[in-house]
Amino acid sequence: MCGIVGYTGKAKASPFLMEGLKRLEYRGYDSAGIALSDKGIEIHRAKGKIDNLRQKLPRELKQTCGIGHTRWATHGKPSEANAHPHRSQDGKVALIHNGIIENYASLRTELIELGFEMKSETDTEVLAHLIQKCYKGDLEAAVREVLGLVTGAYGIAVMHENEPGRIVAAKMGSPLIIGLGTGENYLASDRTALMGHTQNVVILEDGEMAVIDPDEVRFSTIEAEALDPQVTELKDEVERIEKGEFPHFMLKEIFEQPRTISDSFAGRLLSEEGTAHLGGLDNVIDRLMECDRIILTACGTSWHAALVGEYMLEEYLRIPVEVEYASEFRYRNPVVDENTAVIAISQSGETADTLAAMKEAKRKGALVLGICNRVGSAIARESHGGVYIHAGPEIGVASTKAFTSQLVVLTLLTIKLARIRSMGFSEGKNLVDELRGLPDKVEQVLKGAKEIERISQMLAPHHNALYLGRGLAFPVALEGALKLKEISYIHAEGYPAAEMKHGPIALIDENMPVIVIAPSDDNYEKVISNLQEVRARSGKTIVIATQADTKLQELADEVIQIPHSHPILSPILSSIPLQLISYYVAVARGCDVDQPRNLAKSVTVE
Ligand code: AGP
Ligand code: GLU
Repeated sequence: MCGIVGYTGKAKASPFLMEGLKRLEYRGYDSAGIALSDKGIEIHRAKGKIDNLRQKLPRELKQTCGIGHTRWATHGKPSEANAHPHRSQDGKVALIHNGIIENYASLRTELIELGFEMKSETDTEVLAHLIQKCYKGDLEAAVREVLGLVTGAYGIAVMHENEPGRIVAAKMGSPLIIGLGTGENYLASDRTALMGHTQNVVILEDGEMAVIDPDEVRFSTIEAEALDPQVTELKDEVERIEKGEFPHFMLKEIFEQPRTISDSFAGRLLSEEGTAHLGGLDNVIDRLMECDRIILTACGTSWHAALVGEYMLEEYLRIPVEVEYASEFRYRNPVVDENTAVIAISQSGETADTLAAMKEAKRKGALVLGICNRVGSAIARESHGGVYIHAGPEIGVASTKAFTSQLVVLTLLTIKLARIRSMGFSEGKNLVDELRGLPDKVEQVLKGAKEIERISQMLAPHHNALYLGRGLAFPVALEGALKLKEISYIHAEGYPAAEMKHGPIALIDENMPVIVIAPSDDNYEKVISNLQEVRARSGKTIVIATQADTKLQELADEVIQIPHSHPILSPILSSIPLQLISYYVAVARGCDVDQPRNLAKSVTVE
C-alpha cells in the first residue's frame, strides 16, 4: 500500500505534504513525489526514501495546493520515472494513485495509438493522459468519465492547472480519508497523516468522490449522485506516531505491549460474571451462537494469530474452526453458508486479500465479523459486527503489538462464547483474572531485553534458522520465523516440533540455529525430546521456556525464561522474546528495521 496526502488552503502545502509522507512512509517506500499547483503544475520526485525527495526540493515552495505519494511498486520498478505524481502529456494534469488499474494495458495501447507518449512503466500513468483526453474545462467531470473506463482498485488524487486550489479524489478499493479544516482541507490514505491538523474526517467508501477546495468539499458517487457525508472524529494522539526515545518504531511498539494489551481488554473483563463484554458483537451474538462452524481468515502475522484462535475456539466451543489464507479462500469457491461465521483478522483493516475474502463469504450468506486495529477501516466497515483491538497506530512494518492484542481479543472472544456454551463461572473467572495480570508478566519478559539482545548475537551471522513449537506454540514458531525473515532477511522456517523428524532434521548441523518454544504445558516432555534430537546433530538451540529446569539447561545453548501463565495465554508471552530476537538480529545485521526492503505495512493490492 502506498501513502497519499493532499492539502489545499491558505498555508504553503509542501510542509504538510512532506510531514504526511514521512508519517506514511512505513506503508510503502520505494519512491516518492509531490505535485504543487497554483499558476501551473510543479512536480518533484525521487527514488528511495522520503529524505531523498526532501533533499531535491527547492528551498521555497509557495504553492498552497498540492498532493504527495509514497510508492509501493506494482507495475514498473522503483525509479524516479515510475514515481508518482504522474503528469499528462500536455503537462496540465498531475495524478497520484494507490492500487492497480487492471485494464491499463489496453488503455495504454489506445493512448499510444492516439499519439500519447508513455514516460513510465506504470499502470497509473494512463489515468493522467486519459484525464487530459477527457478534460473539457471541468476536472470533476473528466475524472468521472475516466473512472468509467477503468477496472481495478484505486485511491486517486488529481489536480489540473486550469483549476488551481482544487483536488479531485476518488476511491475504489484503496483507502482515502478527507480531513476537514477551516479555510483548508486535507486528503490522506491513512489518518496518521492528519493527526495534529484536524480531528474531523470523512472516510470515502468505494465508488465515492470528493472535490476538495479550500473552503468547501463536495462529496458524490462516481456516478454523480450527491452525498451527505458522515463526519467522524479522530481520537488518536500525535505522540503515538512518534518514536520518542526509541531508535525504531518496532522497538517502541514491542515495549508498548504492557499498555496495548491492557488497552485491548480495558472495559471488557467482567470478573463478577467470569466472562468478557464485546460490544461490537451485541447485534450479532445470537446469530453467531447459532453458527455451527467458524472460519478465521487473514494474511501474514494476522494469519498466525488466527491459528492461535483456532486452537482456543475449537478447544472451548467444540465446533469446527478452520483457518484460511485470505488469498486462497477468496478464489477457492469455499463451502460457506448462513450457519458459517467468517472472522477476518487484520491490523490495518485494508488488506485487499482479506477484504475480498470477506466479501466472498458475505456473498455466500456467511456471518462476517472483523477483528481490526484501525477504526473505520474497510474491513471494519464490511463486517456485520466486530471487535477493535485498540493497539494504537502500528508504524513498524513488522507487526508486534497488534499481534499480541489480536491474541487478547481472540481470548476474550473465546471466553465470551464459551461462557454462553459450556464453560463454568470459575474457569471463566480464572481466565479473566489471568488476562488482567498479563501486562505485568509482559513487563517481566521485557525486563530481560538486554539478555535477549546478547543471545540474539548468536543468530546474526547465520543465513537460516528453524523455529519449532507444538500445539499453541506452533503458530508462535511460525510468527517468530516471519518476524526474523521479514526484517533481518535470514531465511527462517517455523515447523511443528514433531514434524522436524519428517524432513527438516536433515538441515540440522552446527550452522542451523534452532529456536524452540517450550512452555510448561502438556507438550513439554515431547518438545524436550525434539530438543535432544537437535542436540544429537550439533544444532545450536535457543529455548523459550517457563521453567529453566536442569534438564533444559543441559540441552539448550541458551534459555529465555518467561513467566508461567494459563496455557492459552502463553503464545502472547512467548512471542515477545521472539519479537526482540528478530529486532536485535536485524539491528546487528544493519537492516532497516522499520521499513524492510520490498515490504509495505498494509498490502492493499492483490
Ligand atoms: C507482519 O509482520 C507483516 N507485516 C504482514 O505479514 C502483515 O501481517 C500482513 O500483511 C497482514 O496485514 P493486516 O494484519 O494489516 O491485514
Ligand atoms: N500501481 C501503481 C504503481 O505501481 C501504484 C502502486 C502503489 O499503490 O503505490 O505505481
